Amino acid sequence: MTKAGGSNCGSGGSVGSGGSGSSGSSGSSGILKCFDLSGKTALVTGCNKGIGRALACALAEAGADIIGVSSSLPARGSEVEQDITGLGRTFHGYTCNLTDREALKAFIAKVKATHAPIDILVNNAGTIIRQPAVNHEDEAWDTVIELNLRVPFILAREFGRDMVARRYGKIIFIASLLSFQGGILVPGYAAGKGGVAQLTKALANEWAPFGVNVNAIAPGYIATDNTAALRADPQRSRQVLERIPAGRWGTPDDLKGAIVFLSSDAAAYVHGTILTVDGGWLGR
Ligand SMILES: NC(=O)c1ccc[n+]([C@@H]2O[C@H](COP(=O)([O-])OP(=O)(O)OC[C@H]3O[C@@H](n4cnc5c(N)ncnc54)[C@H](OP(=O)(O)O)[C@@H]3O)[C@@H](O)[C@H]2O)c1
Repeated sequence: MTKAGGSNCGSGGSVGSGGSGSSGSSGSSGILKCFDLSGKTALVTGCNKGIGRALACALAEAGADIIGVSSSLPARGSEVEQDITGLGRTFHGYTCNLTDREALKAFIAKVKATHAPIDILVNNAGTIIRQPAVNHEDEAWDTVIELNLRVPFILAREFGRDMVARRYGKIIFIASLLSFQGGILVPGYAAGKGGVAQLTKALANEWAPFGVNVNAIAPGYIATDNTAALRADPQRSRQVLERIPAGRWGTPDDLKGAIVFLSSDAAAYVHGTILTVDGGWLGR
């Protein structure tokens, strides 16, 4: 196990003068060692269910200890806690409505005061409100932009500052196909996820020189509560399925490989990318 904050990539060291160590394949334990997250601490938002729960489990399977937060996650006894501790990792759960600005500030302060420095931040918590643009209310817009764009920025800024100081860190935003496309009936969501893609690149530009990797995953159509309404609409559900080259909806587990990769030193030279995991949707 390497100490938190350092590279898990054996003795490879960096090429040239960059700060984020690159391993090549000649590290003492080879390329697979670069995916090892032993000794790392990951904060995953919205890990109570759906994609966030799978991402937390993937990081724990790779060796990381997990701090989880969501609006209804109990401090003790959650299913995700059982998943993580069953893997032999530690789990600390927090209940926080992240859109409550004072609660968000208090949560960040609590995490910093209580836990080891965050090595991996996964900005996953999000919501979607489907309303035609002509009826898209101010409140709907504000709710979606607040949770999907403002909160991830604040978390990235507050934990990213520490990562920059330590010259190590991984920040992964959960973007969307609607970071690239406009979608249907979800103007606030598309605007917010488009902003997430731009934020990913903006932060990567600033923090890559300090050994902090900022990237995003853009999931395709994944079967979770977030897409329940879409899947319940026979016409839209059929239209979505017909367009996916892989011929099926995604599952949260389909995102496990991507999160471990981007959270690991195997991705040490990957900055500002938005990795689509979409069954081929975007290439069509
Ligand atoms: N599903 C898809 O097809 C898809 C596609 C592209 C992108 N995404 C993105 O992936 C992420 C996860 O989506 P999902 O499908 O897994 O959704 P989900 O099943 O609805 O889960 C959302 C998670 O976010 C948490 N959350 C919601 N509002 C919150 C708040 N105000 N404060 C704190 N936590 C809050 C929820 O907490 P509780 O469980 O406590 O309520 C839940 O754990 C989102 O950013 C979403 O936009 C999803």
